[in-house]
Amino acid sequence: MTQDELKKAVGWAALKYVQPGTIVGVGTGTTAAHFIDALGTMKHQIDGAVSSSEASSAKLKALGIPLLDLNSVDSLDIYVDGADEINSHMQMIKGGGAALTREKIISAVARRFICIADASKQVDVLGRFPLPVEVIPMARSYVARELVKLGGLPEYRQGVVTDNGNIILDVRNLQILDAVALEDKINALPGVVTVGLFARRGADVALIGTPEGVKVIE
Ligand code: A5P
Repeated sequence: MTQDELKKAVGWAALKYVQPGTIVGVGTGTTAAHFIDALGTMKHQIDGAVSSSEASSAKLKALGIPLLDLNSVDSLDIYVDGADEINSHMQMIKGGGAALTREKIISAVARRFICIADASKQVDVLGRFPLPVEVIPMARSYVARELVKLGGLPEYRQGVVTDNGNIILDVRNLQILDAVALEDKINALPGVVTVGLFARRGADVALIGTPEGVKVIE
């Protein structure tokens, strides 16, 4: 099976977590795009979706799925999204698609985070995938220097402006053994909007696409 077929399998498998009459939190990326296709088949049964990016919003709209503002929503049952890496503690690196801040906000509201990922995203130690950090543009150099002090090698993601008007630093050379501590440290740097470490709020369910089928980790 190709990687995209594995992504499609988990995207569609996530549909069984969608309860009729609820609002669904929707992530960003190629795996989440498959979930949105699947969600389209339930559009008349759900009360709408909250989206983590302009790209996902456009896809939801194109499929006729009602889009809601997070501020008009009191609670969300689930948030469904991909990941760049996930470890056995259900902690993740996210933000390869630059949507990490909105992803983190919506996942904080949701009762359950359903992570959908192909098996290549499973790791023992987080950090091989460069850790994305969304930064206020004027703080770019300062934050980069602070990230070097933490042992990282930050690289400016050229040409990328997030949906919030900020920039992304991708941090290489990290072996993340204490993801909660690192999440707190990076988030505490002035100028950082969000780090793409989802450790304090990890996944509650992971649907992992393997050639043998979708593995469910709860
Ligand atoms: C988007 O900003 C990311 O957090 C994605 O969820 C992550 O990059 C996974 O993307 P793919 O599903 O495209 O691999």
